[in-house]
Amino acid sequence: MIGATEPLVQLTNRRKKLKQLNQIICGDNLIELKKIPDNSVDLVITSPPYDNLRSYKDLVKGMKEEYNGYSFPFESIVAELARVVKKGGVIVWVVGDAVMKGSETGSSFRQALHFMEQGFKIHDTMIYEKNGSSFPARRDGNRYSQLFEYMFVFSNGDKPKTANLICDKKNKWAGWVPWGKNGGTFRGKDGELKSRTQKPTPEFSPRNNIWRYNTGKGYSATDDEAFKHPAIFPEKLVEDHIMSWSNPGDVVLDPMNGSGTTTKVAVLTGRQYVGIDIFQEYCDIAMKRIKIANSTVKSRQTLQTLEDRK
Ligand SMILES: C[S@@+](CC[C@H](N)C(=O)[O-])C[C@H]1O[C@@H](n2cnc3c(N)ncnc32)[C@H](O)[C@@H]1O
Repeated sequence: MIGATEPLVQLTNRRKKLKQLNQIICGDNLIELKKIPDNSVDLVITSPPYDNLRSYKDLVKGMKEEYNGYSFPFESIVAELARVVKKGGVIVWVVGDAVMKGSETGSSFRQALHFMEQGFKIHDTMIYEKNGSSFPARRDGNRYSQLFEYMFVFSNGDKPKTANLICDKKNKWAGWVPWGKNGGTFRGKDGELKSRTQKPTPEFSPRNNIWRYNTGKGYSATDDEAFKHPAIFPEKLVEDHIMSWSNPGDVVLDPMNGSGTTTKVAVLTGRQYVGIDIFQEYCDIAMKRIKIANSTVKSRQTLQTLEDRK
């Protein structure tokens, strides 16, 4: 409800159009998110700068110390995301924990619980499994190789408004029902023999919630630009989430867009996008990748037109 004391900026935000549509915005996400109207985003796919695993570009303007990921105003960002994401919209939060002073930090769990406290549902805690580790275990060490990150799927409201589950798990028993290929019979309460009506097992079923991707040069991205950023996630990971939790034309936001994987794949899948990153260098990479995506889409359309003319 709009209260009498609500600041004017918030009131106007509610009525604004999403002017940032299909733009890469270079700026601090907290400042930029505040300019985005309420309930205007269908899906957020993002990966925060977690703990101090990676150090991004030297210094953030105005910050005295090297930016190490700690200083990102997590709680304020969640509040803004809660405002801009539509009811039933989804946030995919890809995150891992660093090991510090002999313990994993647990930041990922704390963040997930905070989303919950702010009214999001933890719809699924999924695993992004990598094919290799940046810190492989040593025989004389005490820790196994770290191979995964969490992909928390939060829904803004009771359940996602869109869930197009990817059905690519081949069923060994395709065409069968539990009693054989033809369904079989059973004796009803009245003693009569009846035929079973259960549908046969389909050829494919929804995959499980551990997703495995090949990472590294030549795998994570289909262009070389992306690898100028130190912490990209795979294009295929983004594609799988976009296909699962959104429909063509929907608005996909990444408030920590980095090399622009989310925004590039949004273009390739016919979604609209908004990407925010604090570093101009990363925004430039993201814009180059958008260009690549746009020309891929154009070539596909030309091919399709030629195909239709045949
Ligand atoms: C883990 S990276 C994201 C990489 C991205 N998923 C990709 O595939 O390239 C996190 C990004 O957050 C950006 N970032 C950190 N603090 C930010 C802030 N306050 N506002 C906007 N972007 C920020 C960093 O510059 C970095 O590019």
